[in-house]
Amino acid sequence: MKQIFEPVKLNHMELKNRLVRSATWEGIANLDGSVTEEAYEIYEELAKGGVGAIITGFTSVSLHDYYFDGMMRLCDDALIPQYRKLTELIHAEGIPAITQLALGGYYRETDGRYLRVEPDNMTTDEIRFVIRQFTEAAIRAEKAGFDGVQIHAAHFFFLSRFISPAVNHRSDEYGGSTENRARILLDIMDGIRKAAPGLHVTIKITCSDFTYGGLAEDECLSICRMLDEAGIDSIEISGNGTSVGGIKAHESGLQGRTAGRP
Ligand SMILES: Cc1cc2nc3c(=O)[nH]c(=O)nc-3n(C[C@H](O)[C@H](O)[C@H](O)COP(=O)(O)O)c2cc1C
Repeated sequence: MKQIFEPVKLNHMELKNRLVRSATWEGIANLDGSVTEEAYEIYEELAKGGVGAIITGFTSVSLHDYYFDGMMRLCDDALIPQYRKLTELIHAEGIPAITQLALGGYYRETDGRYLRVEPDNMTTDEIRFVIRQFTEAAIRAEKAGFDGVQIHAAHFFFLSRFISPAVNHRSDEYGGSTENRARILLDIMDGIRKAAPGLHVTIKITCSDFTYGGLAEDECLSICRMLDEAGIDSIEISGNGTSVGGIKAHESGLQGRTAGRP
């Protein structure tokens, strides 16, 4: 306990204390992922609060991810200057900034419409495409000045569903055994390491799906061990949801948008 307010050095980051602001979806970005003035204000206020590091909210790696409205997105090089402004606001208070790279769902284009596809129905090329999207988003994050990226593999979003035995019934190298279901996480981590070696790479993972036949604590632990052996810098274990019902994203972010929390 006495160490909470002491500085700590993590790979590629120095924190002035050990309190980390967990990713919290604000729901206030524009549809294309561009950052609003309101988001800048929120992060400036958070940074002034004196936390050791800030993980920004759910940031999709894809433009065609329709899971929530108001998600930030690192899906286009044109957005880099806007995210650079965000990291500069946070860095001005001496605080490292980590972006949470996520995918709500994988949406396949069919006849001009984007329809959500579950892991079992994706082609191997589509899985490799998703891995590339995470890697490319990490490259943009590094160019925007982020100190680290967090791979969002929690809360039953795309990656969390992918590693869950309740969802993934594939019979190729991306399904079946724990090792095969977790391969996508290791491939993403590897891709990011190679493409953006200056970043702290962390992952958020659900300790349990709390669902019959889903990911349980022992399997989560095995996956964490694999990630550790492969060189992950840090791991955030999540209880898979909010402990208090009814907590919502920033009020203005919910007007006319999806009311939920990632
Ligand atoms: C309004 C709101 C938005 C949230 N947005 C995110 C998010 O973008 N990414 C994420 O990983 N978790 C998000 N969460 C979940 C929290 O970060 C945290 O994981 C959750 O409160 C459960 O705590 P635990 O992870 O310690 O079990 C959100 C929670 C709330 C209340």
